[in-house]
Amino acid sequence: MACGIIGVTARKSQGSPSRIAEIVKKGLEKLEYRGYDSVGVAAIYDNRILVRKGKGKISEVNRRIKLDRVLGWTVIGHTRWATHGAPSDINAHPHTDCSGKIAVVHNGIIQNYVELKKELTAKGHRFQSETDTEVLAHLIEEYLKKGNEVFHAFKKALKRIKGSYAFGVIAVDEPDKIFFARKDSPLVIGIGRDMNFIASDIPAFLEYTRDVIIVYDEELGYITPDSVYLEDENGIPVNVKMRIRKIDWTPDMAKKEGYPHFMIKEIHEQPRALRDTLRGLDESVGEASKLILEARKVYFVAAGTSYHACLVGDYLLNILAGIPSFSIISSEYKKYRRSIGEGDVVIAVSQSGETIDTLMAIRVFKKNGAKIISVSNVVDSAIPRESNYTIYTRAGPEIGVAATKTFTTQILVLSWLSLSVAEKGGKLTENEARKMRDSLRKAPLLVSDILARYEGVTKKLGEELMNSRSAFYLGRGIGLPIAMEGALKLKEIAYIHAEAYPAGESKHGPIALVEPGFPVVFLIFEDEWKRHMLGNIEEMKARGAYAIGIIPEESEFIEERLDKAIVVPKLKPIVGTIVYSVPLQLIAYYAAVARGYDPDKPRNLAKTVTVE
Ligand code: G6P
Repeated sequence: MACGIIGVTARKSQGSPSRIAEIVKKGLEKLEYRGYDSVGVAAIYDNRILVRKGKGKISEVNRRIKLDRVLGWTVIGHTRWATHGAPSDINAHPHTDCSGKIAVVHNGIIQNYVELKKELTAKGHRFQSETDTEVLAHLIEEYLKKGNEVFHAFKKALKRIKGSYAFGVIAVDEPDKIFFARKDSPLVIGIGRDMNFIASDIPAFLEYTRDVIIVYDEELGYITPDSVYLEDENGIPVNVKMRIRKIDWTPDMAKKEGYPHFMIKEIHEQPRALRDTLRGLDESVGEASKLILEARKVYFVAAGTSYHACLVGDYLLNILAGIPSFSIISSEYKKYRRSIGEGDVVIAVSQSGETIDTLMAIRVFKKNGAKIISVSNVVDSAIPRESNYTIYTRAGPEIGVAATKTFTTQILVLSWLSLSVAEKGGKLTENEARKMRDSLRKAPLLVSDILARYEGVTKKLGEELMNSRSAFYLGRGIGLPIAMEGALKLKEIAYIHAEAYPAGESKHGPIALVEPGFPVVFLIFEDEWKRHMLGNIEEMKARGAYAIGIIPEESEFIEERLDKAIVVPKLKPIVGTIVYSVPLQLIAYYAAVARGYDPDKPRNLAKTVTVE
């Protein structure tokens, strides 16, 4: 899934030689959200490379082998998510060559590692791990033997490698350099004072610098404590000064600030995130809506939670603008490789901007001639860079694996975009569009209000659900994607089996599972489906379901049929999607906590999935 990389190289004036390992360990903790099963560091000290690594959580491994005490001013670290070779002490990164003079960390997959390993073994190299990564260390060793300098040996080795990667490499011959390269896996550089960084993600070094260079695909180079050398895909040196950007994330944004988990902090940040995202939306949707209006067909593509945001955008484009759009799960893009192309617009939604399936999908569609609009939370990430046009959400860094504030801000952007398309396309009058925009502008306030009023209720509900084995989430129309997101949240962090269905479809199978006490969550909007939803409540109640509903005010006739009701103001459905999402996030969060799980780091999941 998604390993985490960090590398720090500092001048000796930066204090004791164990300080850098401490920084690396802290950086690795900031990358924990990416999901991992083992961890390790390597440092150069006294003309030797020292490696410490092991299976388990950072805190456990650190207790055992003191990752943060390794000496050296050039240190790399890695959290591993096993792909080739089981999680184990030996398979943990960093990996070294036979001479122990080169150490490598890697995120991605080397597809041709079997051939390379055979070739290198035949030449006498001894492999210690079962990983694909180790071949890079031996390849570099091989090219060093032929008299190359480390950087050239590294470049030659890279030429032999097929697959995806972000690499960090250290070598005793060049003790103050960290070599890096990127292809299809994220990598960023941090410019500090007498200390430079490479990492998979910005929060890893945010405490030390906000000056960042995003490494683009197929770029490579090295950092020293006070310089950065970067080459583009054609081997041409890049003017790094021009590429430095100051990011507006603060270190506090990547801290829990007194909350027990990032997820609950991020749920509470939604009013701010929505407010920031609203700023400037009018301008940023302008160009995109023109592209959509000129399109032959419009598609959305995304994975996970972002896919649910697509379904909201897709619904609104159909309903408001009369444009028949379709949503595609990005890992299924191949189905459309011949049908989407010239004249089409594809809207790619990805909070990280790095999800490999979404990236692969837009590459194919773009090559076919489609125009790509992306919605992302990370400036200059891979998907925005390869798009024709990008609209950014401004949610700030999201560390919890389960998306919350990035989801509601994605919906906000897509709703605003759909409104603009509908208005420009003459399907909504200026007045109608203005009214809907006004209601979207209220989203931050409405969400604050829900958080203030319903945290206690949702906590109780979460605790009630903790002993359930399954739950259904039912919705209709625009409520359906929100139901899907609610079910996903419960599933991914509380490990309770939850399914969402179009409420009308629930009779065609799912209802067979309902028995006394079976929880069913109904999402009822102030729309044309309200009465139909009442019918669904009755059907489920008749089988003994425990009926929980999020319903609009003045719906007593519904409220009295429910076992638990969360009553929200009467809202236009366009803003209801955002507001209704919040209690569902809270319910899942509190169910996970009640069951004793860490919602920030759900088992088997990663924040950014960079493996197809
Ligand atoms: C992973 C994360 C989800 C996220 C999905 C898509 O599965 O755990 O929270 O929704 O990837 O990620 P993206 O960055 O493309 O939105």
